[in-house]
Amino acid sequence: MDSEFKVTPWEVTGDIDYDLLQEKFGTSPIDAALVARLSKYGEVHPMIKRGIFYSHRDMNIILDEYDKGNRFMLYTGRGPSGNTHLGHMMPWMFNKWIQDTFDVPMYFQMTDDEKFLFKDMTLHETRNMAYENALDFIALGFNPEKTKIILNTKNIDKLYPIALKVAKKVTFSTAKAVFGFDNSTNLGQIFFTTMQSAPAFLASEEAGKPVPVLIPCGIDQDPHFRVTRDVAPGLGYPKPSLVCCKMFPGLSGADKMSSSDENATIYTTDSPKAVKKKVGRAFTGGCVTVEEQRANGGKPEICAVFKYNYYMFEKDDRKLDEMAEKCRNGEILCGECKMCLTEKINTFLEEHQAKREDAKEVIDSMTFDDFKW
Ligand code: TRP
Repeated sequence: MDSEFKVTPWEVTGDIDYDLLQEKFGTSPIDAALVARLSKYGEVHPMIKRGIFYSHRDMNIILDEYDKGNRFMLYTGRGPSGNTHLGHMMPWMFNKWIQDTFDVPMYFQMTDDEKFLFKDMTLHETRNMAYENALDFIALGFNPEKTKIILNTKNIDKLYPIALKVAKKVTFSTAKAVFGFDNSTNLGQIFFTTMQSAPAFLASEEAGKPVPVLIPCGIDQDPHFRVTRDVAPGLGYPKPSLVCCKMFPGLSGADKMSSSDENATIYTTDSPKAVKKKVGRAFTGGCVTVEEQRANGGKPEICAVFKYNYYMFEKDDRKLDEMAEKCRNGEILCGECKMCLTEKINTFLEEHQAKREDAKEVIDSMTFDDFKW
């Protein structure tokens, strides 16, 4: 069967072969040696152990510098194109673990400009969405003293001088080769990668000396940072390091949770009833009839419900193995697993939604100029 897939910062389709993607992009696997090294700083995050954050660029340099007492800056971001769903939260949770484990400062970039340029949205809409998304980010408990949220259209004064330096080093021919731009691409889209590069160099600008930067992100963002890394030496900045994750699966069994498929997407603001309904309809690895499943067992490896446990909701490896085993043996059926997952998600969301309300009190203090949203 033809397994065509496509992964760009703006489009993810098909059945993704993550090893092949890593090879194509030229990132390195997070191997046993790197995991062992990470374990010296604390309990390694399940997303690393389970191969969800699976690939990197120069992560060792970050740790080398850290060991010398040179703290890095953490940088990630969000393109505010719609309400936050669990797929967006996954890498943010990982970022939170890095911030806590290494006690480092962080930038969170909200690219309202990007979504204006690439989607059918007004600037007013993308900014409002940025506010909503930022609440979810803050609710995860990032250190307000050490975390700054950048809103591109608002904090352009900080970003623009850096973006210009990047822009001057990147030709249209490079942009075309990396992103596949053509004659129908608008000027803003062509320029945009410089805006996503800017926060990678902002810490060095602010400190007046080279500051190492680690960017945890979905592997789909790698093309931007390939450009960022290429221009860094010529501008006197350190190349940012990356740690990349796979896409969070959809409930429909698709490789990526996507807002365009609302019924297969769990938003952070969903009600318990909505979650129950969506999980109830999820794609599983079960059989058509109960008898068949009792006899032959299910297939956790293709089951969206199992994937949700694997990616986010079951941190205990032993329990996860048990779940897979019981499924394969036909001991548990899909209904039971769905009920269990619904409960886990709803417990998480209830707490998250309360923290999201509290976030409204601190959001203004976490922006650069303490502006009012
Ligand atoms: N382009 C990203 C998106 O569409 C947002 C983003 C900006 C980002 N800076 C980042 C993501 C740094 C990861 C790391 O979601």
